[in-house]
Amino acid sequence: MVENQPNYTPFNPHEKKFDWIICTDRDVESVRKNLAFESPEEFLSWIKDKRVLNMGAGMLKLEKDILSSYVDKVGNLQMVAMEPKLSRKHHRERHTALPENQHISSVAAVWDIKLALPFADGSFDRILSTWAFPYYVKNSETLKNVLSEIDRITTPGCEVRLSPVSREFFDFDTIIGGTNLKYKFVRAHESRVDVLVLYK
Ligand SMILES: C[S@@+](CC[C@H](N)C(=O)[O-])C[C@H]1O[C@@H](n2cnc3c(N)ncnc32)[C@H](O)[C@@H]1O
Repeated sequence: MVENQPNYTPFNPHEKKFDWIICTDRDVESVRKNLAFESPEEFLSWIKDKRVLNMGAGMLKLEKDILSSYVDKVGNLQMVAMEPKLSRKHHRERHTALPENQHISSVAAVWDIKLALPFADGSFDRILSTWAFPYYVKNSETLKNVLSEIDRITTPGCEVRLSPVSREFFDFDTIIGGTNLKYKFVRAHESRVDVLVLYK
């Protein structure tokens, strides 16, 4: 159970109030806080030697930060950054250019949530998403589609962390019960958000 905190405001995905937010883009320190890791080291060891998908990667600041400051700590990380804006040429050129790198590739995916994700079954050991989930999950039907795709593209032993996701607004027991995934919520105290953790 997630305990209540007086200063905690649940995030309501049914409200469209987040549409105005421009891409804030988070680095390692900020992502680890939003995903409820105690330290950058804990986050880096979570992705070390893993096949990782970043859903809604924004301007790829996380990926650039890993490459510039932490590359010696991630072992044989294989990371895919999925971001619809990558399909726009000017965004690719101005904001997201990544050095050619063995660790990280980017996908110019305009992801229609009703369609399958562009990855084969069992492609990832880790999936992470910060401040993007509310953009594409606004109702139970899309949540169901997203979770069934996450189930399909992950391996047994995987762990998925999505933030912010508020437990109040969906029937997670029923929706996740229809997949091979298990779930729990953890509180990212420093960012005051709930994180949906999925695993199998
Ligand atoms: C507020 S930004 C967050 C970027 C980054 N993850 C961060 O934490 O700073 C939200 C991102 O979600 C992306 N997004 C919106 N709809 C999406 C979809 N259907 N599939 C994947 N990403 C999506 C947006 O393009 C945007 O880059």
